[in-house]
Amino acid sequence: SLKNVKYTHAVSYYRGGTAYTGTVKSLKLNTKKYTTKTITVNKKKIKVRCYTNVSYVSKPVDSKYQTMNIYIPESYFHNKKVNGYTKNTAPYFMTNTVGGYMSGAAGGLTSSGNGGGMKKPSGSKTMKLPAKPTGKKSGKGNGLNANGGASSTESTQKALSEGYIVAAAGARGRDDKKNSKNVGKAPASIVDLKAAVRYLKYNASRLPGNTNRIVADGTSAGGALSTLLGTTGNAKDYAPYLKAIGAADTSDDIYTAVTFAPITNLDHADSAYEWEFGGITKLSSSGMPGGPTTASSLTTKQQAASKELKKQFVTYLNGLNLKDDNGNKLTINSDGTGTLATLLKKKVMESAQTALDNGTTIKASKYPWLTIKSGKVTDVNLKKYFKAIGRSKTAPAFDSFDLSAGENNEFGTSTVASKHFTSYSQSNSTKKTTSQADSTIVKMMNPMEYIGTSQATVAKHFWIRYGEKDSNTSLLIPTLLSQKLKGAGVDVNYKVQWNTGHAGDYDLNALFKWLNKNMK
Ligand code: DHB
Repeated sequence: SLKNVKYTHAVSYYRGGTAYTGTVKSLKLNTKKYTTKTITVNKKKIKVRCYTNVSYVSKPVDSKYQTMNIYIPESYFHNKKVNGYTKNTAPYFMTNTVGGYMSGAAGGLTSSGNGGGMKKPSGSKTMKLPAKPTGKKSGKGNGLNANGGASSTESTQKALSEGYIVAAAGARGRDDKKNSKNVGKAPASIVDLKAAVRYLKYNASRLPGNTNRIVADGTSAGGALSTLLGTTGNAKDYAPYLKAIGAADTSDDIYTAVTFAPITNLDHADSAYEWEFGGITKLSSSGMPGGPTTASSLTTKQQAASKELKKQFVTYLNGLNLKDDNGNKLTINSDGTGTLATLLKKKVMESAQTALDNGTTIKASKYPWLTIKSGKVTDVNLKKYFKAIGRSKTAPAFDSFDLSAGENNEFGTSTVASKHFTSYSQSNSTKKTTSQADSTIVKMMNPMEYIGTSQATVAKHFWIRYGEKDSNTSLLIPTLLSQKLKGAGVDVNYKVQWNTGHAGDYDLNALFKWLNKNMK
């Protein structure tokens, strides 16, 4: 048995040069250690077997976050079917509670607890870093929890009612500290979630269900992580990190990724943001939800940066060599036209049309950028649309010159709080004391780097949603992700959600209908 064997961590991964000893934990699920809870979903009672506070790594760095709650419909232990699924075919639905690239503890079964008597899921009480929630933009109503992360209990309950086994995984984030060292900086969150996937696969024989049918869900930074789970399966870059924390030695690819408002492609998100919001000098809202309040308008220097970044986007786009749905190369001209602009228009028009078709009233006076003729959406004026949404971040939006963005903090190291992760911001930095983030780590946080390459196994199916009113990143980010995935042969369901801001886990009926269809 591995139990009670002391381990010492390699000093290079998350340890900041501090050797650490602990007790090696078994990776074998103790199948006898569970509780049983009954939840009610749509007036139907569901008995759930709960394995809580399960360490998914053998050498945890921070046990507070590197744990998982596994919720299983009790029916499977009695040879009963749920929604046509059996104890052999039940898919897995993996949630995370990461928001703002902060740590997120394993999600609960109900909003009042996790069914295991463990700590509450949000972890917000321990948040000390800049992205302290304001409460204004978080909480009920937008699908985000008090920590800015996705409130996973609704999707958890829905998944259970649909016969899925829920794996609610915790993950370290940029705020996590141990022995006064940072232990959750990039790529810790994605490494942890990969370890959680591996744990499920490793324990496949001890659990009901089919671990070849794992669906990962997430919102915002958590959506960036579900996207990474879906695009970096088995990629070698992560191997030393997984080894260091004692992750199971299995594959870590998943079947389907679900991502809402993914704050991803961070090293190109600044230029994408300026392509969309460049020329807008006033902020309509402020920064990352729960994050530090940013200025209300752009300084002269930021306006100059905006112009420069906008140009960089064109270069980036050309290098991507992406196609639209008709096989034409995605292009953008300096006047704002091109196949990419046409695609963005199409997505926003589709969004409005769907809303109309579902009976939503769209007042012309409220949407001067939208043309509707006899119930049909015929045009979107992109420039006016972007202006109407407005920017919520200064320039650069993600790799801030003064290192104040949450993303700078995400790319810190065990001993350095924040770093630049683009050479543009590094060379324009007002805080030139630190070196730029390690390029491999920046790559490991960017799904675009792995899609369509031989480095990784990519999920077969992708569900991508972005709010029509969201300005936390550019609409280009989910759109380019979608086209890159399609180009690699992935089945992508990507839509812009009408009259929706920065939110996640909405439209669950439609989501599960699609998930179920693809499981067959
Ligand atoms: C999140 C929001 C942001 O604006 C951002 O920059 C990073 C993360 C979030 O809600 O998780």
